[in-house]
Amino acid sequence: MSRFWNPLIEQLEPYIPGEQLDDSSIIKLNTNENPFPPSPNVIAAIEEEARTKLQLYPSPAVDNLREEIGGCYGLKKEQVFIGNGSDEVLALSFMTFFEPGKAIKYPDITYSFYPVYAKLYQLDVEEVALEDDFTISPPSLFNAEGGVIFPNPNAPTSLYMELEAIEEILKNNPDQIVIVDEAYVDFAKASAASLIDSYPNLLVIQTLSKSRSLAGLRVGMAMGHKDLIDGLTRVKDSFNSYTIDRLAIAGAMEAFRDTAYFEKTRNEIIKTREYFRQELEKRDFHVLPSQANFVLASPAGIEAEKLFMELKQAGFLIRYFNKPKLENYLRISIGTKEQMTKLLHAIDYIIEK
Ligand SMILES: Cc1ncc(COP(=O)(O)O)c(C=O)c1O
Repeated sequence: MSRFWNPLIEQLEPYIPGEQLDDSSIIKLNTNENPFPPSPNVIAAIEEEARTKLQLYPSPAVDNLREEIGGCYGLKKEQVFIGNGSDEVLALSFMTFFEPGKAIKYPDITYSFYPVYAKLYQLDVEEVALEDDFTISPPSLFNAEGGVIFPNPNAPTSLYMELEAIEEILKNNPDQIVIVDEAYVDFAKASAASLIDSYPNLLVIQTLSKSRSLAGLRVGMAMGHKDLIDGLTRVKDSFNSYTIDRLAIAGAMEAFRDTAYFEKTRNEIIKTREYFRQELEKRDFHVLPSQANFVLASPAGIEAEKLFMELKQAGFLIRYFNKPKLENYLRISIGTKEQMTKLLHAIDYIIEK
């Protein structure tokens, strides 16, 4: 604390990201990263860009990448915005679309960065309770005063909401923005991006950190009506014109072009997720039906927090949230099949001890 701080800074409660350890002997399943490296084409493009162009500023408009991404979703580049990771896109979206005095709605169990942004921008919030089975009740998000935001699949529940339900939320907030944070959607049934041309109040946010193995490169995007994208761009250009560096642009382009690699690694993770879920269920864990690259599971025969601590000692990092409704659950990212098998052995050893 310092007397030179703006008084608001003292009241902030910054987001605490999952631990990032440099110890390579640890099996790290705590921040939903992809266990596979990015496509070799991504690495080659980054190397080439680093060798030849780093002395030049990147493009502030990032037109080529917006065009590439738009092409993948049947959208024009004017309907795509790029940011430095989806956390930055979310922060800029909160600033662009939400205003103090008009309560925004989000679920009471959700991505824990939302309350942090709400505090930073001094927004009023109406947290809506999840159902007992951890699903979001669509009507609970109807008629928001100041807009809606939720992840689909939700984090950390891993549960997916069908597009028909999202449409109901959009229809019941005709004068408010509805932001769908699709950080994990590539592991799920379908993206709401297909609804963009029908709903001018829909903003879909995605990231290259999970399904495209690029958490370290920091690229995220928003897709929506041109007017929404123009608003985000105004805010971005009033803050920092060059949020996406040249290496990120070059790498992200190739990540979208190499669809074969994307499909292969994504499908492998989904397969491993189903294997891991079945194995946990054989051990009587309660596992939510995940459509993400992680599962939320409640262990049997041991308290969640104890299992978390013991796994950490055994060299496995997963995530425990000491929060109401989640105290009996663990969030476990899906790694390679080999990593998940090792984790299962460690769980068996701890429980049988
Ligand atoms: C729901 C959700 N949204 C957004 C993010 C941020 O991702 P990034 O900033 O790496 O794009 C995460 C990261 O874990 C997340 O879980």
